[in-house]
Amino acid sequence: MFSHDIIIVGGGLAGLRAAIAAKSTDVAVISRVMPIRSHSVAAQGGINASLGSDDSWEKHAFDTVKGSDYLADQEAVEVLCKDAPLRVIEMEHWGTLFSRTHEGRIAQRPFGGAGFPRTCYAEDRTGHNLLHTMYEQALENDIMVYTEWMVTRLVVNNGRCYGVIGYNIATGEAAGFNAKAVIFATGGYGRIYKRSTNAIINTGSGISVAYRAGVPLQDMEFVQFHPTTLFGTNILITEGARGEGGIMKNKNGERFMERYSPHSLDLAPRDIVARAIRREINEGRGFDGGYVHLELMHLGAKIINERLPGIRQIAIDFADIDPVKEPIPVQPGQHYSMGGIAANSNCETAVQGFYACGECSCISVHGANRLGGNSLLETLVFGKIAGENAKKYALSSGSGDAVIMDRELKDEIERIRGLMQRKEGEPFHVIRDKLKTVLDEKAGVFRDEKNLEDAINEIIELEKRFSKVYVRNKNTIFNQELVNVIELEAMLDIAGCICAGAFNRMESRGSHFRTDYPLRDDANWLKHSLFTFSPQGPLVAYKPVSITLYQPRTREY
Ligand code: FUM
Repeated sequence: MFSHDIIIVGGGLAGLRAAIAAKSTDVAVISRVMPIRSHSVAAQGGINASLGSDDSWEKHAFDTVKGSDYLADQEAVEVLCKDAPLRVIEMEHWGTLFSRTHEGRIAQRPFGGAGFPRTCYAEDRTGHNLLHTMYEQALENDIMVYTEWMVTRLVVNNGRCYGVIGYNIATGEAAGFNAKAVIFATGGYGRIYKRSTNAIINTGSGISVAYRAGVPLQDMEFVQFHPTTLFGTNILITEGARGEGGIMKNKNGERFMERYSPHSLDLAPRDIVARAIRREINEGRGFDGGYVHLELMHLGAKIINERLPGIRQIAIDFADIDPVKEPIPVQPGQHYSMGGIAANSNCETAVQGFYACGECSCISVHGANRLGGNSLLETLVFGKIAGENAKKYALSSGSGDAVIMDRELKDEIERIRGLMQRKEGEPFHVIRDKLKTVLDEKAGVFRDEKNLEDAINEIIELEKRFSKVYVRNKNTIFNQELVNVIELEAMLDIAGCICAGAFNRMESRGSHFRTDYPLRDDANWLKHSLFTFSPQGPLVAYKPVSITLYQPRTREY
């Protein structure tokens, strides 16, 4: 049994920022991968902060709330936008190499749905630069990291958190981590979709671990599809490419965004642009295979090399296309989870001593649609808040309960042994591939009752098949097959919540578009969904939205 005051699960930006904030207590991070391989590293286009003299936190908040289709909790949005400049400057002081204006200030580019160029960037490798800076700070602060451990259980008793159970991927052993407070910063679940920009570790296992321990999830039906992912691999092609002046065209050479968003054009929010591209493809104006063109050629080699060097390299390496000379083939792909572990703006959850921040959480600063550049920001703002609050709690609470931890550890060892001892059954990848196809086809950019009902039934069927899944590899050392099996159960949980929430919500709002209910319906649906685990499937309830700054209005761009 390991023991620390605070355990943080997740070694990306949110988790490391939380650890730095909680330092001075005995804090440790548990990470599936070496922290600099966390998915934060893949963020490209930038991080929002109202640094400009004619920008303000209020303008940033307004754009965020409007972008969220008025589902964001405005009290939390206020926290996010007020803190943004401080967090970005802090990263600059810690060493992040932001791109610069001619005057030497942090450069900011226009991003979708923003009324102002407020996205600070480091070329098109902003996440990479931020994560390396943060990891340096973690080293400087002697933060202990358990690498290649996967947390499979959150230990909760009588509404209080006592620690976690981890599975050591390198050795195949399970162990208990006793803690006064636990923070989850475990990232999103993008890999439950076939087409996703996410790292393969993003299977939502952390979200499911919390859900199965009785912590409610929130707004799971809201899944973000990034408009521009590289056709074929779905690697992210940053919104920064359009921020720098890139434009999209269909196969007839039309700049089709003129039809969908006459003012903002290619820089409308992601939900609107993703729907526009899908519609062009569905109505026969896309290229064969299902994509449109993103043109950067007119920007010229100098701008592309200075501001979008990563995109140029990705297009050359993965599509054999040089964007200086040719258009990039793009299509929408799953990118971000607006839903997640329900938490308030102090990162507190329904369980005492258990906190959540970053993409795995739903503090609801993004509501029904996140603006680009607000994701990196939430990791810094709420990572810090989670760390500070967990520290306060840990300093005032008593030590854990060895009996409860031992019992949970034994149960978990038995569960894993049960999976490993099964002699026959279905291989996990058949079930997983089917799940991804169901979600892509039935719970994607456009949804309707029939498809969602089919998806729910197919997921129930897949859950039954999962109960007989078979692990062929009986090794204990780096048994990736076992890891995949454990993750698959989580993926099925998440998929069930997404489809139940989407089926119930008979309106269109942000990323959730129902072709059979194409309008937003504030009278009936201006509310958050909450999902509680039950063995029969998610129990869905609702709670009000916090509206403190801006009353809902029609959303036009
Ligand atoms: O397009 C992008 O660079 C993605 C940014 C984001 O998701 O915030």
